[in-house]
Amino acid sequence: MNYQDLLPQLDLSRLPRHVGIIMDGNGRWAKLHHRPRLYGHRAGSRALRQVVELGVELKLGFLTFYTFSTENWSREQAEVQGLLRMFKELLIKEIGELHRQNIVVRILGSETELDPKYLTELRKVASVSHQNTGLTLNLAFNYGGRREILEAVQKIGRDALRNPEMLDKLDSETFSRYLYTSGQPDPDLIIRTSGERRLSNFLLWQSAYAEIYITDTLWPDFGKVEMLEALIDFQSRQRRFGGRKPK
Ligand code: IPE
Ligand code: IPE
Ligand code: MG
Repeated sequence: MNYQDLLPQLDLSRLPRHVGIIMDGNGRWAKLHHRPRLYGHRAGSRALRQVVELGVELKLGFLTFYTFSTENWSREQAEVQGLLRMFKELLIKEIGELHRQNIVVRILGSETELDPKYLTELRKVASVSHQNTGLTLNLAFNYGGRREILEAVQKIGRDALRNPEMLDKLDSETFSRYLYTSGQPDPDLIIRTSGERRLSNFLLWQSAYAEIYITDTLWPDFGKVEMLEALIDFQSRQRRFGGRKPK
């Protein structure tokens, strides 16, 4: 199906507020094309741009892309360094256009392991978009769900030293405010490409009731059509949140 045929099938009044995407399969895509892995990652960044464009067209609220995990450091040095360089270059290159489109760019992830100079530069680049009011584009970079939860616990511990009563009142809502996604709704839909059926440490706390959509499409081949297919599939789901099936 093409874009024009799919679009009318989407109910614009029932879009997910927040979609998380595990962009997987760049390496396999590169292999298929007899090219180095970084070539696959570069092709992946073009797919990312397509999905962001659709997000703006549909007026989605929040999109979170998994760009680099706390476990991805275990890859070969050349790939890791290539990914870090690519991420920064992409951000610098795209920020002007993202800003023009009223997009808020946030970088979610841990500061550990990252060179402070590199991180300061990323933050500075992203910060020009922080007053915008359109789509929030979260880039999960050096992100790990367990790390995020542990860092939240550490921050809560520090606050509790000054204010021990807060521990008695600690609930899910308060806890969520200590996560990188503070103030944002939980994802309604998580998409993973390349057929792998796991979360790989992505949004562990936030995905408690997310619908999961898995496609065999490798990330560099994912575009607006595939995103529309995922959203249409999402709208066919019956979400119960532990309650009873609606009559
Ligand atoms: C996803 O593609 C991108 C990152 C993890 C940075 P992969 O690099 O994991 O691609 P495959 O899984 O090896 O095909
Ligand atoms: C998940 O993909 C991380 C990102 C997409 C950034 P991986 O390729 O690293 O995950 P595993 O190793 O297959 O679980
Ligand atoms: Mg992978």
